[in-house]
Amino acid sequence: MAYSRAKVSEFVIIDGNEISFEPGETLLEAAKRADVEIPTLCYDPRLTPAGACRMCLVEVEGSRLMQPACSFKAAPGQVVRTQTARVQRNREFILSLHLADTIHDRDVMEDNNPSHVHELAERYGTAGDWTTLAKQRAGRPDDVNKFISFRPDRCILCSLCTRYCDQVEAVSAITLAGRGAHTTITTADARSLTDTTCELCGGCVDVCPTGAMTEKAALEYGKPERELDKVRTTCNFCGVGCQIDLNVDTEANQVVKVTSPPPGTTVNDGNLCVKGRFANDFIHHEDRLTVPLVRDPGGGLREATWDEALDRTVRGLQAAAAKHGNDALAFISSSRCTGEENYLMQKMARAAFGTHNIHQCAAT
Ligand code: SF4
Ligand code: SF4
Ligand code: FES
Repeated sequence: MAYSRAKVSEFVIIDGNEISFEPGETLLEAAKRADVEIPTLCYDPRLTPAGACRMCLVEVEGSRLMQPACSFKAAPGQVVRTQTARVQRNREFILSLHLADTIHDRDVMEDNNPSHVHELAERYGTAGDWTTLAKQRAGRPDDVNKFISFRPDRCILCSLCTRYCDQVEAVSAITLAGRGAHTTITTADARSLTDTTCELCGGCVDVCPTGAMTEKAALEYGKPERELDKVRTTCNFCGVGCQIDLNVDTEANQVVKVTSPPPGTTVNDGNLCVKGRFANDFIHHEDRLTVPLVRDPGGGLREATWDEALDRTVRGLQAAAAKHGNDALAFISSSRCTGEENYLMQKMARAAFGTHNIHQCAAT
């Protein structure tokens, strides 16, 4: 008889408290579950850790060097300290290094996306007056793709964008290239994203902690994300039901851009496709129908009230059913409608008109 081996919880001691962990977990994962805050810049639960930013260094007893909590595996009996003066000094030092060759002013840095570096610098402090270093990373000014811009002066080389592109989107359209201060994010031969395997999912923009990867249209609109209101809704481009946040300029009653809720909180786990993330200009498009249209006897379309349009629809359907029978009618719904709207459509076909002739594009 075969027995499966049950997972056995082990314990680490973090800041004096015994915290359980499952074999294989990192110090960060164990700490998170116990609500111990360890700041990170290059960590994402969907990606293999890179240990690139060094923001998460903690003291581990018996280890001369501090260790990155995001990639260092927890071990039974390990004694870890996350709040010592040495750990704090490292956080200030790392943040100062990142700010030295990016942009110091938070308002300038956050002209569109929020900056996690500046948020942490305000929370943990920096090492005092640091000099500014020349920014030597090259960009791709000729990238003519319509949606995404890379701004090298904001990049901290955390490699979240390249790992996301490789491990989640599985296309590896962008990569780290160059050495030392010249290291940058680029594509093969620095081509435009549209001339690579890029699927314009926008995941690189979403994971970027600094706004180095940014949405072109929202940047052009000119209002930072922190001044927009987020409205959670369901994407209506297909039947998957991804949750999206409309970022709305309430003063202008304008949807400026779409962002995805954080990983682990909704069905799409922080991911979106090109349509969900970028195809939102239909919302305010001048061609969009905002009132019903009905046909004149002459065949032309004219604007009508909802009462008139619905009355015309019902009379037309009833007349056709009376003349040719209920199964002469067919109802076609759309995956762009909500589940509730699709339910009502089939209910109307079956219960009101007595036909099973009901279909929807996502069913094919
Ligand atoms: S948009 Fe998506 S596919 Fe294109 S580079 Fe960014 S992460 Fe990769
Ligand atoms: S572009 Fe953003 S996500 Fe990519 S390495 Fe630079 S800072 Fe990190
Ligand atoms: S979060 Fe651990 S090294 Fe970046």
